[in-house]
Amino acid sequence: MRTVVITGGTDGMGRALAETYLRRGDRVVVLGTDAAKGQAVLDVAADVGAAGRAEFLRADLSLVAENRRVIEHITATYPVIDALVLGARYYRATRVVTAEGFESSFALFYLSRYLLGHGLAAHLERAESPVLLDLSGPGGDLTRIRWGDLQFAHDYRPDEVMGQCGKLSDLLAVAFTRRYPGSRIRYVLLHPGLTATGFTGDYDAASAEILAGMRERAQPIEAALPRLLRHLDNPPTAPLSAFMQDTPVDVHGEPFDPHAADRLAAMTAALLA
Ligand SMILES: NC(=O)c1ccc[n+]([C@@H]2O[C@H](COP(=O)([O-])OP(=O)(O)OC[C@H]3O[C@@H](n4cnc5c(N)ncnc54)[C@H](OP(=O)(O)O)[C@@H]3O)[C@@H](O)[C@H]2O)c1
Repeated sequence: MRTVVITGGTDGMGRALAETYLRRGDRVVVLGTDAAKGQAVLDVAADVGAAGRAEFLRADLSLVAENRRVIEHITATYPVIDALVLGARYYRATRVVTAEGFESSFALFYLSRYLLGHGLAAHLERAESPVLLDLSGPGGDLTRIRWGDLQFAHDYRPDEVMGQCGKLSDLLAVAFTRRYPGSRIRYVLLHPGLTATGFTGDYDAASAEILAGMRERAQPIEAALPRLLRHLDNPPTAPLSAFMQDTPVDVHGEPFDPHAADRLAAMTAALLA
């Protein structure tokens, strides 16, 4: 039985993954903020005879303290983690600062992924074929990063924020594989293609209109799911790999510059100190 931890496991692709693993006989831990959605996953687990293999952890992952709390709980409860799926997302049309003082998207898309990846690495390492799948990359080139204003304190533009989040995920992945040389963990960055999911977020009139168009163009979750399962079921041989839908992305080029990854890692360590 594998143990699979899924952020964003209460909705969209994360939820579809959670249900797939529960049906297969695996153990699943889903994280999200919405108690009703979490209960719905537990209800499905009960329906398929997996009540004892499902856990919902209610946590606001845009808060560093919440990430640290769930890491403590997960590492105390599950000695081995086979797969970590990083799929929490939330669109914010306007800038929000968390109670801890971080811009909310930076905190949810980047700091949470940083904390969970590193915080669960030792337990992933114990698995036979561990994999970490991040759905927010790969994210284009390095020009997407506002190095001087990572948290968009000036001129907040939600689409640029989302673009930067993808790019930060790429550099996080590079820094992760540099920090654990020789690790068995396979780090996979995947853009599954535009998919009709919960599209959780706080939209204004303009972004809601764009979202409506996206929903129409988007593939159904069932079309995205095999793209995720492919890597989770058969992790690649390389420590780091990236895919745009089914097409591999070169992770050795300038967009995955190790110096930029080190720079971001150092800035992050300073922010979290
Ligand atoms: N959909 C697409 O077209 C698309 C395309 C490329 C990449 N992706 C990526 O794929 C991943 C999954 O996307 P999706 O579209 O399937 O997502 P979704 O349906 O919008 O669901 C988002 C998930 O994130 C959770 N979440 C939101 N804010 C949270 C917070 N503060 N703390 C903890 N959990 C939080 C939500 O849980 P609660 O509601 O319970 O809080 C929900 O489970 C994301 O990383 C996204 O960037 C999506």
